[in-house]
Amino acid sequence: MIKSDVVTVGLIGLGGMANAHRRMISELEQLQMEALCDVNEKLLNEVGNEEGISEEKRFNDMEALIADPDVDVVISIVPNHLHAKVLELCIHYQKPIMAEKPFTLNFEEAEDLAVLYEKQPIPCMVGFSYRYVPSFRYAKKLLEENKIGEIRHIAVRYLQSFGAPLFEVPYAWRFSKAVTGTGALGDLGAHMIDSARFLVGEFQSVSALMETFVHERKDPISGELKKVDVDDYASFQAVLENNIIGNFLTTRNAVGSGNQHEVTIYGDYGTIHVNCERPDEIDLCLKDEAEDRAIFKTKKVPESYKKQQLQDFADLVTNNQQEGTPTFYDGYQNQKVLERIVQSSESGQSVYID
Ligand SMILES: NC(=O)c1ccc[n+]([C@@H]2O[C@H](COP(=O)([O-])OP(=O)(O)OC[C@H]3O[C@@H](n4cnc5c(N)ncnc54)[C@H](O)[C@@H]3O)[C@@H](O)[C@H]2O)c1
Repeated sequence: MIKSDVVTVGLIGLGGMANAHRRMISELEQLQMEALCDVNEKLLNEVGNEEGISEEKRFNDMEALIADPDVDVVISIVPNHLHAKVLELCIHYQKPIMAEKPFTLNFEEAEDLAVLYEKQPIPCMVGFSYRYVPSFRYAKKLLEENKIGEIRHIAVRYLQSFGAPLFEVPYAWRFSKAVTGTGALGDLGAHMIDSARFLVGEFQSVSALMETFVHERKDPISGELKKVDVDDYASFQAVLENNIIGNFLTTRNAVGSGNQHEVTIYGDYGTIHVNCERPDEIDLCLKDEAEDRAIFKTKKVPESYKKQQLQDFADLVTNNQQEGTPTFYDGYQNQKVLERIVQSSESGQSVYID
């Protein structure tokens, strides 16, 4: 555990998602940006100047940053094929890490990492950010209080539109299996799996369907068409703990959707619905005694359910606080479910998750 009041952070990967992490770090006095790493020299220097990071703490090589004794913890936001490498180095140098999702490129990598991690564990958090949407946290509390009775089934959706032909999005690493693992499934489906595990429990079996709608995209530099070899769409049925039935859908082709991750949980005495686009509200359907029928009402989520994602990471590394934190184990389990979904889609059969 880190005992000092201020925890120094080394950030690896300074692209799109790094902006959210930089903002979160700047909001927390406990975290202090110490070092940066990116293979894009121009970006490294731009961010270095904006963050006021000295030249000697700007790295091209991730191992040099991870090994730096001035860096207490690592936050990694690199493309998916590098996740396992960063985790392996952090285990080797015993450096706590907040690693972005999906956990690894495939389950084989997760299994190899688990062998290393068991011998030399480190504080490790995985970027399942929807655990920090206040309404998702409040839903968990209401379920723990048995507010809607026995849970029978859940419906989980994560809809985006950016991949639809309408937008002519060019080729990027997100469309290459070798770099991303899977498409919509690993990118968005990993969040759906985590939300379901967080709210209702472990997966027991899956039956899946995956599809690619746009098979070629233009390379942004050469203009040549490049082959897309990952999914744009994934849906799956699942049986979860306590025989809860789950219905899951994710797509990058939902024109009209922005970033729409929502969960509906159906119990014997009510329904809970949360949507990340309304993070401070929860829809709750319960019996209204006066009207003698079940009515949906929208409630404001109490302030106490707000927790910033990197505050949780700071609490993990300084106090070993793990309750509700997505850890190495959650990353590993998530990757296992992703793998089984791919197997099910390829075989056309239900697949059990041991
Ligand atoms: N939790 C979430 O909600 C969420 C949202 C978006 C992205 N992500 C995850 O964050 C990760 C990054 O996504 P992004 O959208 O920021 O991608 P991006 O392509 O915008 O940024 C990736 C950055 O990593 C850098 N990079 C590549 N190889 C490197 C190396 N060897 N060493 C150091 N830097 C290297 C690139 O130059 C780039 O700047 C992905 O794994 C993605 O799944 C998570």
